[in-house]
Amino acid sequence: MTAISARALRLLLDDWRTTGPAYAALADRIRLLVLDGRVPIASRLPAERELAEALRVSRTTITAAYAHLREAGYLDSVRGSGSVARLPGRAPVNLDAHRPGYLDFSKAALPAIPDIADAVRRAADRLPAHLGDSGFDPVGLPELRSAIAERYTRRGLPTDADQVMVTVGAQSAIGLVTRTLLSRGDRALIEAPSYPHAIDALRAAGARVATVPVSADAGWDEDVLDQVLRGVSPTLGYLMPDFHNPTGRSMSPELRERTLTLAARQGTVLVADETMAELAIDAPDVAPFAAFDPAKLAITIGSVGKTLWGGIRIGWIRAERSVIQRLVRARSTSDLGTPILEQLVVADLLERYDDIIAVRREQLRAGRDHLERALADAIPEWRVPRVQGGLTAWINLGAPVSSQLVLAARTRGLLLAAGPRFGVDGAFERFLRLPISYSAQETDAAVAALRDAWVTLVPDTFADPSFLAEVV
Ligand SMILES: Cc1ncc(COP(=O)(O)O)c(C=O)c1O
Repeated sequence: MTAISARALRLLLDDWRTTGPAYAALADRIRLLVLDGRVPIASRLPAERELAEALRVSRTTITAAYAHLREAGYLDSVRGSGSVARLPGRAPVNLDAHRPGYLDFSKAALPAIPDIADAVRRAADRLPAHLGDSGFDPVGLPELRSAIAERYTRRGLPTDADQVMVTVGAQSAIGLVTRTLLSRGDRALIEAPSYPHAIDALRAAGARVATVPVSADAGWDEDVLDQVLRGVSPTLGYLMPDFHNPTGRSMSPELRERTLTLAARQGTVLVADETMAELAIDAPDVAPFAAFDPAKLAITIGSVGKTLWGGIRIGWIRAERSVIQRLVRARSTSDLGTPILEQLVVADLLERYDDIIAVRREQLRAGRDHLERALADAIPEWRVPRVQGGLTAWINLGAPVSSQLVLAARTRGLLLAAGPRFGVDGAFERFLRLPISYSAQETDAAVAALRDAWVTLVPDTFADPSFLAEVV
């Protein structure tokens, strides 16, 4: 059983106090940490006395907060194990997203392209040629690997089919690469904020994580990036150089080249998650990250999850042949291969991928413009950056209230991921990630719920001295 220390929970809780009773504020914040996975289900919370000391509150406050959580079904008292995190009801997973009536803005994803069903039918017609085999394979269909390699070559990164392996989405690629290349205790670099499941993957691999700040206004903190690479010489760095999730920023060609050159010198393998790379709205297309790598060490992860549909679970890894071979050998501990039918669907759709991408870009442009306008009307005090591509806007709320806002929005039927979900240690309470990938109608409904939730927080907001300092 994982145990969360009092110190770790204090970091996750960050600035948890509100003007209401302390026990209720604390219980609310722990509930959110459980709901969004930062406190894993079945993990042991700190003993009451230790948490009271770490948070500098009375033991009664902790007792009352834990009692509140127990009553609401978020904690179990297990003999000999203390207080263990759980979710209400019998199901051990969060089923909120499947409840009718909830609008799920915690996910940034587009609906399927309209003719996905036709593509599946065409793939089914081609399936009989494969029915004599197992139906899945660990490396990928040669025709799909060639199509992916050709696309990289066309985009400025010469690639052969044997430098590509097909995976079950980008997520399993992230898991495979981190698990295979990192040993427990190795140093790893990641952006802050970053994609939460990549943070989880580095942690699961036992890495000691060093972070490099990225902001929607200024992009990468280049000094820190330089310092971490030079000072720590991480074994692996996970980056999103294009339309970074959640900030939407992209690295300039100069920064790509500088970062890769320094990483090569320090022996750091950089992994570029390019899940969003082709979804430019206003930005010019830049060659894939690895095209700037003098040492040819960089690994690229791609996916059709954000372009075609998340329901087609196809991703891939592009790397040097020897690395691909190592990854293929290591794969079987997590899955045995990628389904052939889905590979056939993607091979079919890659033939007209340019047209599909062009439509997706227009959808995202419309989504971005609509969200910008709706927020400017409803909550003009938020700072909404101009998103240049990808699927998300990283909004500055002007006050450290993201978790509170997310809880308040939840009671209004809107599911969101709070800013701290994108950090390593409870930072980003001032930020909220909103997807730009939803229809105008859904976005309007979400913004209305946000507005209702926001006004309930405003008194707290103005009680926060750092907010007053900023608005002066
Ligand atoms: C940056 C990033 N990488 C990877 C993934 C996972 O992609 P896939 O659906 O292909 O597993 C996502 C999905 O949200 C993502 O945002």
